[in-house]
Amino acid sequence: MYNRLSRHGFAMDVVKQTDTPFYYYDMDILRRALDQINRQGEGFPMKVHYAVKANGNPVILKEIASHDLGADLVSGNEIEAAVQAGFSPQDMTFSGVGKTDWEIRTGLSYGIGCFNVESVPELDVINEIAHEMDTIANIAFRVNPDIDAHTHKYITTGTADNKFGINIEVLDQVIAQAMELTHVNLRGLHFHIGSQITTMQPYRLLCLTINDLLDHYDQQGIHFELINVGGGLGIDYDHPDEHPLPDFKTYFDTFKHSLNLRAGQTLHFELGRSIVAGCGSLISRVVFVKESRNKKFVILDAGMTDLIRPALYGAHHEVQNLTAGDDGQALHPYDVVGPVCESSDVFASDCLLPLTRRGDLIAIRSAGAYGESMASRYNMRRLPGSIFHNGK
Ligand code: LLP
Repeated sequence: MYNRLSRHGFAMDVVKQTDTPFYYYDMDILRRALDQINRQGEGFPMKVHYAVKANGNPVILKEIASHDLGADLVSGNEIEAAVQAGFSPQDMTFSGVGKTDWEIRTGLSYGIGCFNVESVPELDVINEIAHEMDTIANIAFRVNPDIDAHTHKYITTGTADNKFGINIEVLDQVIAQAMELTHVNLRGLHFHIGSQITTMQPYRLLCLTINDLLDHYDQQGIHFELINVGGGLGIDYDHPDEHPLPDFKTYFDTFKHSLNLRAGQTLHFELGRSIVAGCGSLISRVVFVKESRNKKFVILDAGMTDLIRPALYGAHHEVQNLTAGDDGQALHPYDVVGPVCESSDVFASDCLLPLTRRGDLIAIRSAGAYGESMASRYNMRRLPGSIFHNGK
């Protein structure tokens, strides 16, 4: 049915028939990511938890659950969505600095594998609620390793000055406190240093920190059954056709080679972006092409409400005109903008496109992560729809 693929790999028949704006997911790319990840896990004690915040679309979640990944969750509603999609509760982790009582109860009622605990007040509340519910909460402490991931300031999380995790200096004391509690079971340590990390150096530094901590706790006779190194693997936003997926092997090898895991320990990961970014594009139609004194604007029916990353982080996504004809045409500089009443509603400035006209279909690429999941209804706009391409 979907046999006519554009040169960027889109099934154009269905793209042309669908109301814009919408997210187009290429499920083959998603499955390739999942297969590569599962191959890396063969013969090595590791478990990858998909960070649902990157994309919680139920079809995407089901596909990922069917490949046997776990789920990394940050809200009660994400826990419910993961259960619905078929993830098994013992392979769920629940992170976040502000877990509310009902969210903790939700996690406990499903018997999730791990609460990643970020503070002492949270530890006490989890213990109390578990007591009330006559159950035991599995926990790991999220440690703030004070490592700069050299990524955007809004998505770096592992430095001492941000709100995430427990500082290393107080970890001994916090672990001692946890061991006194009756309704928590301390399973391990958790780390996450940031997102869209494109070099392995920050991860090597993280491994050094973890190795030191493991030596330190060995000496105290404290053993952890799991070490969770979080997520953050970056993708190539500049070349979506050539590199829809990151180099998973180099990423996992970095940990396999640099981390001194103890016998019986399992290595946990929480990857979001690297799994789903490449499979998704936001498809939009050109409403008008408008010329001002110095610029030509391509005005789309998609805006920052559909994909906020360019407006919020100045993020770059490749913009492609899917209907402007063949290669070899002259390219023109356009500012590609949305219709929302905000000056920041810009997808790309001075973007080179072939001659673009009203009605053309535009793809904004690498939008599968933090695209649909961050959509809003500002200006009372409709939320974007989604379609799934399953062809080979
Ligand atoms: N684990 C924890 C504790 C996290 O906070 C995050 C992401 C992840 C795992 C997954 O990270 P990933 O593998 O996707 O990099 N909205 C931003 C990204 C925010 C990331 C928040 N935390 C963006 O659009 O770039």
